[in-house]
Amino acid sequence: MLETRVTKLLGIRYPIFQGGMAWISRAELVAAVSEAGGLGVLATGTLRPTELKDELRKVRAATDKPFAVNVSLVPAHPDADAKTAAIMTELALEEGVRIFTISAGSPGVMTEKLKKRGAIVIHVVPSARLAKKAEAAGVDAVVAEGYEAGGHVGHDEHTSVVLWPSAVRAVKIPVIAAGGIADGAGMAAALAFGAEGVQLGTRFIATAECNAHAVFKQRIVDAPETPTTVYCKSTHPGRALVTPLVDKLVAMEKHGASGEELERLRGRGRSRAGCLDGDLDEGILPCGAAAGLVTRVVTVAEVVRELVEGYSAAKARMP
Ligand SMILES: Cc1cc2nc3c(=O)[nH]c(=O)nc-3n(C[C@H](O)[C@H](O)[C@H](O)COP(=O)(O)O)c2cc1C
Repeated sequence: MLETRVTKLLGIRYPIFQGGMAWISRAELVAAVSEAGGLGVLATGTLRPTELKDELRKVRAATDKPFAVNVSLVPAHPDADAKTAAIMTELALEEGVRIFTISAGSPGVMTEKLKKRGAIVIHVVPSARLAKKAEAAGVDAVVAEGYEAGGHVGHDEHTSVVLWPSAVRAVKIPVIAAGGIADGAGMAAALAFGAEGVQLGTRFIATAECNAHAVFKQRIVDAPETPTTVYCKSTHPGRALVTPLVDKLVAMEKHGASGEELERLRGRGRSRAGCLDGDLDEGILPCGAAAGLVTRVVTVAEVVRELVEGYSAAKARMP
């Protein structure tokens, strides 16, 4: 029923990815998504090498289904440096990982090395232009991530409804749609635009298996329609729940603060404090606009079931 080039390429039941999420897409969440028939994605940007090994072992102990590793070319861990992404990629290859999603950087950096080692490479892009560049670099598929998404977002501000069909038109390889999807209707919309899969981040935070702090999950459930905003637009734009600190960053930028001043206040480790400690004052809670669609904390299996059933129901509603 839901077979696409993406399900065939990866050997998964449903074309549903849980996007890699710094600090919070750890083994339990990843394994649960893969067990439910989607693709769990382990984020490496905030792990140390020894932690990556442990997490991979935990995923494998919990599921024998395919899963992926996400390498952010701009690692988010406060101790990380420019070499961290290459070290994590090598380690994951040595540990037998064969599906990679690569984000926040040029597809020229990792693709050739990964392809030579027999891996499937999926690059995350914020524009059709970069989707073409990724295709030319030899990736197997792209995740087209619209401005609604949680976490790092593109400078060009391409929203999902325009980005997804533009990316589908621009490339021949499969497109996985991300940014703003939280239910089966969103998934049906993405597939109607020609995407062959969807990637969700925010919806998977509010699940029993995600290690995000309970305060973060509850904030997502309580979020009204416009709960998020983009801050640090002139440096590294990110979408997060509106909190006093994020409000302050937005106001500073509006009043002409320099990139240096913004990044000084943003600091490092704020996402860790927000995601893992539930610190609403000093932390940042990266989150997509789709929080406005999430009303309950449920299990991963329930999210996947709702997506699949909601997709069919949305198709049936079409005139
Ligand atoms: C808390 C959080 C952390 C994220 N960290 C990463 C990351 O480390 N690497 C990455 O490629 N994407 C990251 N993302 C983006 C997600 O993988 C996904 O593409 C995005 O959440 C999809 O949009 P949605 O939030 O509207 O579902 C993050 C998103 C969130 C909400």
